[in-house]
Amino acid sequence: MAYRLLHRYYSHVNMLPKLELIAAACENMGIGINGDLPWRLKTEMAFFTHMTTDTMDKNKKNVVLMGRRTWECIPKKYKPLENRINIVLTSQSLDYGDKAITCKSIPHAIEVITEMQNKIERVWVIGGSNIYKAAMESPYFGRLYLTRIKKEFECDTFFPPIPNDFVLIKDPTVPQDIQEEKGIKFVYEVYEKK
Ligand SMILES: NC(=O)c1ccc[n+]([C@@H]2O[C@H](COP(=O)([O-])OP(=O)(O)OC[C@H]3O[C@@H](n4cnc5c(N)ncnc54)[C@H](OP(=O)(O)O)[C@@H]3O)[C@@H](O)[C@H]2O)c1
Repeated sequence: MAYRLLHRYYSHVNMLPKLELIAAACENMGIGINGDLPWRLKTEMAFFTHMTTDTMDKNKKNVVLMGRRTWECIPKKYKPLENRINIVLTSQSLDYGDKAITCKSIPHAIEVITEMQNKIERVWVIGGSNIYKAAMESPYFGRLYLTRIKKEFECDTFFPPIPNDFVLIKDPTVPQDIQEEKGIKFVYEVYEKK
């Protein structure tokens, strides 16, 4: 019985596209302030859009999985994030109509994603703090795409500590050189679990 349950659990884990996290953090590991981003960096935003939207298979879409506050901080004209399946985590009974699917927990979101996995290429976890933490600890964790912004900003929301067994890897689809916009330098880092 236990074996069957375990087997079912692991075959479920293997079937699901891995959770890929994408975040931008400044030197003090801040990611947000007052329900907004602490910076305006067009190149970084374009990178986020391209990474979370593009698919190899044009019949598939990517999921963007986010917390309710992150959903609320997306400007109305950009909601839902276009050409992506928007999933919002909330404990409340909220209804975003056909803009976004709401889920009560990460396991609930995994269930929903599993049910439509033939339509999905990548699953992007786009914040905030607790969801990043849960995703990094999850058996579904795949990769962390972290933009390191080489400056300190005042923040009230922070990226959780990166586990010690995460290692930097090279992803050829990501620019390797130092980026710069408005005099602010930043680099794209990619982590996997050792
Ligand atoms: N720099 C970046 O890359 C980046 C990325 C994303 C966000 N941000 C910034 O971060 C801030 C928002 O992030 P945040 O950490 O404050 O909030 P958040 O994670 O976006 O949203 C928190 C809410 O999500 C729901 N939630 C979280 N975990 C859940 C779970 N396991 N199960 C069910 N519901 C869950 C709860 O909603 P209910 O209260 O409705 O139950 C919770 O109050 C903003 O300032 C935003 O601009 C920055």
